[in-house]
Amino acid sequence: MSVTIPGNRIVIASHNAGKVREIRELLDPFGLSVVSAGELGLEEPEETGETFAANAELKARFVAEGSGLPALSDDSGLAVPALDGAPGIHSARWAGPKRDFGLAMEKVERELDGKTDRSAYFVCALCLAFPGGSAEVFEGRIDGDLVWPPRGDKGFGYDPIFRPEGHDITFGEMEPAAKHAMSHRARAFAKLLRHLQG
Ligand code: IMP
Repeated sequence: MSVTIPGNRIVIASHNAGKVREIRELLDPFGLSVVSAGELGLEEPEETGETFAANAELKARFVAEGSGLPALSDDSGLAVPALDGAPGIHSARWAGPKRDFGLAMEKVERELDGKTDRSAYFVCALCLAFPGGSAEVFEGRIDGDLVWPPRGDKGFGYDPIFRPEGHDITFGEMEPAAKHAMSHRARAFAKLLRHLQG
């Protein structure tokens, strides 16, 4: 499979080490030169959007303009229907300034106290933006439920409490290749690839 990106170079518009790692792994087969916004010394824009797609687009546009290169951003998070979709676009913020996802997962569990619906889903919006203005967003989602206590240390963020539908193990316990075969990010990525391959 091949994809065409002008200059064969792309910037990952994220400062989140877990996401940068996963996006690098997803891009690996395509022989692109991949650099992250952090490595280029670019700041992170404020996420003022009200949807995953809006935030993905503002991050990708910011980095494409700042770097002069095509930029791929990811805005994603965990949505819990029993919490009216929270933490949702605020998934990173729930971990506080120290990005403590142990605390964020405890907060989810605390707020779920007494509720029977433990369903949840991850959403990922990827945006590919080019310097000069064009941008496209691709979304993926995976459904599952929440376990307690957290299990596994293979992923990042909320992975240790999320068990994808049809599986007994959490994303935190799953090998990266297995997560990449089904995750919200992989599903959004598949749409992006279909677009790039015309
Ligand atoms: P943002 O998109 O940078 O605002 O942050 C999204 C947050 O959602 C991340 O910091 C993670 O906590 C969470 N998140 C997104 N994708 C995943 C995933 O694949 N596994 C676990 N947590 C995730």
